[in-house]
Amino acid sequence: MTTTANDRVLAAAEAFAREELGGDVTGHDWWHIHRVVRMARHLAEREGADVFICSLAALLHDVADEKLNDSKESGLRKVEDWLANQPVAEADRAHVVEIIANMSYNGGANPPMRTPEGRVVQDADRLDAIGAIAIARAFLYAGWKGDPIYDPALRPRDAMTAAEYRTGKSTAINHFHEKLLRLKDRINTPSAKAIAEERHAYMKAYVERFMDEWDGIGD
Ligand code: ADP
Ligand code: NI
Repeated sequence: MTTTANDRVLAAAEAFAREELGGDVTGHDWWHIHRVVRMARHLAEREGADVFICSLAALLHDVADEKLNDSKESGLRKVEDWLANQPVAEADRAHVVEIIANMSYNGGANPPMRTPEGRVVQDADRLDAIGAIAIARAFLYAGWKGDPIYDPALRPRDAMTAAEYRTGKSTAINHFHEKLLRLKDRINTPSAKAIAEERHAYMKAYVERFMDEWDGIGD
């Protein structure tokens, strides 16, 4: 197998992402990127999307994350500056930045992805927030944030009063109701939808079982 210029760009992007995200404990660590890249390539092949663009956007998508930068803009600039020094066509660079800028869930408020590559990478990222690994990520993130696993006194955010919402307190279990159990209806591509349905069923059963044990039923 010969190494192409694109392969070299992907290897450099991997090194950059590892350096930027190496120590992250908020669920955006290198292995999250690794899983998203692998899933994006799998989906791209099935959906007829460009594998290089999908891989590059997946590798760089969390380098720009708001939580790891001063602002969304400065995060995106970091990615743009890095891409500007790579042998990647200007249109492809702009495409990758567009994908990364529109990836996040944002309460479901972002516009739909314009291109097949955007739809694939967004699906790959969302699939990592559904299923067994997603359960682990949610509890890891809640622990990092200082939230408890569950608290019957804290209602899901959309059931909270404005005063409760402003306290910023939630729980890991609430996060499933607020976001994770809603993701399967926000998947773009048929290939990802099939995976999402299966993972969703597992995650839903997990939350039900959690509540059963909490309530002391089933012993
Ligand atoms: P994305 O990069 O897809 O926008 P986030 O950065 O919001 O996702 O979250 C990264 C991971 O942390 C996901 O698996 C997500 O479910 C989890 N997470 C985010 N916010 C919370 C929270 N408040 N409580 C528990 N888990 C969370
Ligand atoms: Ni991600």
